[in-house]
Amino acid sequence: MNTAHDSSQPTVYLETYGCQMNIADSELIAAILRRAGYGRAACPEDADVVLLNTCAIREHAEERVLSRLSTLARLKHKRPALRLGLLGCMAQHNRAQLIEKAPYLDLVAGPDSYRRLPEFLGRTGFDPIVDVRLDREETYAGIGADRAPHPRAYVTVMRGCDRFCTFCVVPYVRGRERSVAPDAVLHECREMAAHGVREVVLLGQTVNAYRHGEVDFGGLLRMIAAIDGIERIRFTSPHPCDMTAAVIDAMAGEPKVQPYLHLPVQSGSDRILAAMQRGYSVKEYLDLVERLRSVIPELALSTDIIVGFHGEEETDFIATMDLMREVAFDSAFTFKYSVREHTRAYKLGDTVSETEKARRLAAIIELQESLSTASNQNEVGRIREVLVEGPARRGDGMLCGKTPQFKTAVFAAQAQPGDLIPVRIISATSHSLIGVPVGR
Ligand code: SAH
Ligand code: SF4
Ligand code: F3S
Repeated sequence: MNTAHDSSQPTVYLETYGCQMNIADSELIAAILRRAGYGRAACPEDADVVLLNTCAIREHAEERVLSRLSTLARLKHKRPALRLGLLGCMAQHNRAQLIEKAPYLDLVAGPDSYRRLPEFLGRTGFDPIVDVRLDREETYAGIGADRAPHPRAYVTVMRGCDRFCTFCVVPYVRGRERSVAPDAVLHECREMAAHGVREVVLLGQTVNAYRHGEVDFGGLLRMIAAIDGIERIRFTSPHPCDMTAAVIDAMAGEPKVQPYLHLPVQSGSDRILAAMQRGYSVKEYLDLVERLRSVIPELALSTDIIVGFHGEEETDFIATMDLMREVAFDSAFTFKYSVREHTRAYKLGDTVSETEKARRLAAIIELQESLSTASNQNEVGRIREVLVEGPARRGDGMLCGKTPQFKTAVFAAQAQPGDLIPVRIISATSHSLIGVPVGR
């Protein structure tokens, strides 16, 4: 969205919480509101409308938003004409209760309501608007998105989730699985390629369950790989149970599909996996990892792990640590279990104390640090092709970009964002690689 606007135009400030799907949704919301005549405000103080696109995955995520809301309420108190809206997963999760907790909200709208935002914001009146209808058909196909210029961009290819893992709120807040038509995905990828995007990240909560007519996820990967200008393809998050031969073949056979996979395991204990209703055992997960590694050389793997789920004993936790060592994940996102209303595990409650969850979390973070360091050390001496993103955060003139394994490389080079350059890795920490360009 353009920040330049004429002064008669209303402006919106949009703040995003949660996962990549929410980031992509905010880009979609920005496009919808720009077309409806809204300009973009640089801060809430300058805006006519402030929208928070929220996450409900853990209690902590909701608490952050509630505290942000109370700050914004003070702004609204000073400037009553300011309109305040809460969008996304938390809107869906808390619905009308939100208006009780935060009566100063003007709008509460769930993830399937974004087409109606201009209409809601255009209404005059004092009653807050709550729209949390979920829609089995809504994919927002063809709307496009307002993305900041970057060589990597997100494309939502499927929405919703049908898996109902017992701990998880996503199926309740995002509704049923539905896939975007391949034509719409391809059109969007071509447009992005024409605007300098080199790498696409396909998004869905169970992205590899993508299916539209005859096209499955493997087919979609191959179709996108045929687009000129798109040099790299990634996707997140695949579910282990949907890692079909078609998907694995496409990963192994299409050089543009990068050798990196975020494959959430959640736990290394069969008892806990069953209680979570994840649909696989530890052995099945390990077999899948072996199959992937046998056909995709130098595959990097990351994962999600929850500690302290209902009924998790010390032995289950040790099994999770064992699995982490056995797979030797390149990186991991680790979480303390948070009981979520509406989920199947909700009524079971918590059996692991907060202190014990914190201890287990600290232990797996420490273990993962050592695994990540070892994995990065293993890169030293190798030459990796890096997609240049721009200046590194350290601010000393160095550039940064991602290797095929999605590791951050930092290097000094004469290069532009979007260039693919070979870099020799000369040193590593647990978080990034230092390199020098070769052959230039
Ligand atoms: N669809 C993805 C996960 C999306 S949610 C998948 O199934 O692979 C991202 C991560 O948040 C999950 O993988 C899980 O590790 C974590 N998570 C989800 N619900 C949680 C809860 N109630 N408490 C703690 N972590 C949770
Ligand atoms: Fe949640 Fe499970 Fe769906 Fe992932 S697959 S979004 S963890 S219900
Ligand atoms: Fe959060 Fe919704 Fe994503 S609950 S993790 S923003 S799908």
